[in-house]
Amino acid sequence: MSKQQGKYELLKEDTKLRRQHTYIQSCLLIALCGMSSLTVYATWTMIYRQNLIIPPALLDVSHHWRNRLVLYEEALRQTLKQQQNTLPNYPDNPASGRDSKGTIVKSIYANNGSAMLPDNIFRATNPAANDDKYQSSKSVEPLHVKELDSERIFPSRFGNYIYSKEAMNGQPPSPKIVCYYTTPVMNAARQQGVIGRGHNLRHILQPEHIDPYLCTHLNIGIIDIVNHTLYIDNNVREALVSTKQLRRVNPSLRILLWVGGASVGGFAEMVENHATRKLFIQSLKAALELYHLDGVDLDWEFPDNGGKRRMHFSQLLHEIRREYQREHRTYILSVAVAPQETIAYMAYDVTEINNYADYVNLMTYDYHFYSPDLPQTGLNAPLYRRANEHSLLGTLNINESVHYWLSAGLEKNKLILGLPTYGHSFTLVNPFNTRIGAPASNFGRVGTLGFASYSEICWFRRYNIYVHQVYDVDSCSPYLYSGSEWISYEDERSLECKAKYIKSHGFGGAMIFSLNTDDFGSYCAENALYRDVTEAGASKNQASFPLLRKVRSVLVEPDANRTATNHHQQKQLELLSGASSASLGATDSKEEDTR
Ligand SMILES: *[C@@H]1O[C@H](CO)[C@@H](O)[C@H](O)[C@H]1NC(C)=O
Ligand SMILES: *[C@@H]1O[C@H](CO)[C@@H](O)[C@H](O)[C@H]1NC(C)=O
Ligand SMILES: *[C@@H]1O[C@H](CO)[C@@H](O)[C@H](O)[C@H]1NC(C)=O
Ligand SMILES: *[C@@H]1O[C@H](CO)[C@@H](O)[C@H](O)[C@H]1NC(C)=O
Repeated sequence: MSKQQGKYELLKEDTKLRRQHTYIQSCLLIALCGMSSLTVYATWTMIYRQNLIIPPALLDVSHHWRNRLVLYEEALRQTLKQQQNTLPNYPDNPASGRDSKGTIVKSIYANNGSAMLPDNIFRATNPAANDDKYQSSKSVEPLHVKELDSERIFPSRFGNYIYSKEAMNGQPPSPKIVCYYTTPVMNAARQQGVIGRGHNLRHILQPEHIDPYLCTHLNIGIIDIVNHTLYIDNNVREALVSTKQLRRVNPSLRILLWVGGASVGGFAEMVENHATRKLFIQSLKAALELYHLDGVDLDWEFPDNGGKRRMHFSQLLHEIRREYQREHRTYILSVAVAPQETIAYMAYDVTEINNYADYVNLMTYDYHFYSPDLPQTGLNAPLYRRANEHSLLGTLNINESVHYWLSAGLEKNKLILGLPTYGHSFTLVNPFNTRIGAPASNFGRVGTLGFASYSEICWFRRYNIYVHQVYDVDSCSPYLYSGSEWISYEDERSLECKAKYIKSHGFGGAMIFSLNTDDFGSYCAENALYRDVTEAGASKNQASFPLLRKVRSVLVEPDANRTATNHHQQKQLELLSGASSASLGATDSKEEDTR
């Protein structure tokens, strides 16, 4: 081997090595680049996640709201358990067999096409079914069914005629807009100095700041039942007294007592027998007369089947109606009900409710919220089933609930569809998985216990960068996310869509839950927050309650709208500059006194 050749070989080795080195180097470089950018990205999101600007709690969440969710959660858990119990008892794929016979069995809990129906749902949708196939599953809840079959309430001697001025004049009923108003805890607020200084006033919706032309019916509460009689606390009493001003402005506004809420145990004992129901009805009549009110809204969450409560509730409605008729009063009797058929089938005798109530407020919201049993994001009030939703999730929407209630015997014009003005917030497990149904680890940080008012949502949207807003066209519902925060909410667009659904189906109207969670302080419209309410003055009026205004603009004739608004503006100004500013002045001076 010559020297020359050796050198050449060495050179060849060298270039080979060098080539390898470059290859390794570039690989390393790419890997490093990738890793560092990932680190930067992760660090950035971690920092960003921690630095979300969370609005101060503007909403005083009533424990009743939370309790409703607890009951929903419990119902969900029970249905899930029931499903697991019945699973082995069912023959293969009963749903397909049902469907081919044309019955309305919905594949609740269908895993992959084979429906596992909870017994009660099965009966609700197809009471005549008596297949041998299902004998095995009947043992799951034989007691309930027997009890429901045997319950009968006394037929009314007075018939089921419900007095209505409109019907007597032969007019078609105008759409109702039923608004719920929770009275703030006035004394606590005053003690904390929240009321009295202008800049903080907008946290709390006081009764005199309700626009009397936006709603047709105003439900004021929450009123408990104690010792079988109404228990009206001081806050509610104060609110009832000050709503007289609203009616002076708009005499056709109906004001009702809102009795119930989730945590009130009083219903169960009160309905038990004739004597206790009578006590309740006496106290109801006294309260209606004392405060010059137009009726009562019963919001028992929920009459389960224990101790024949379902039947007793019907009986109570019947007796209240009979009392109204005996006294020739035109008081209103309405009920607020759970929309989901899982609860509704056991809780309500729909034909009896339809006979005795003037209208029924379907609480078509809280379909999804954070719960340890179903820790995933979801929409508060989806109008329709989304394409990828099957089984139980496929029934958790407004359309399904409405069809259940109509098929169970509720008249179309008595159906008042609930529209929420609040949203539910969630904390995402993975900030990069933001779809509907993504894993969630807790309530969101916005709002209280996952309840977020529209004002809080607007605040969050305005003060955080990179807030992504998505509008799900299938379900008429928007949601937004930023960092690990995920919020399902309602805006003008979604409520317009849902109000059009009400109008196109010819339902009785809309129920707004609640005035307290709409943007009454016009946070969404203005840039300045915490601005003095008196300074904002009259211009504030048109920007307040944006969601309610939108619903109203869809449901109520535009002409009526115009006259009402003009009329209203004048009167409202009078009201604000006259009586109500006097009362504000009064609280101001009280505030001075205490300090
Ligand atoms: C779904 O059904 C198909 C056949 O119908 C089956 O092969 C598959 O295992 C099922 N998946 C689940 C999750 O049950
Ligand atoms: C309810 O009744 C009990 C016993 O009869 C009585 O001690 C209690 O004070 C009553 N509560 C109210 C609010 O009247
Ligand atoms: C609404 O519900 C009914 C009854 O379940 C169903 O037939 C209908 O297809 C639903 N509408 C939409 C748009 O999903
Ligand atoms: C009805 O009221 C809404 C909101 O107040 C307003 O935007 C709309 O222009 C009104 N319609 C008519 C015809 O005045």
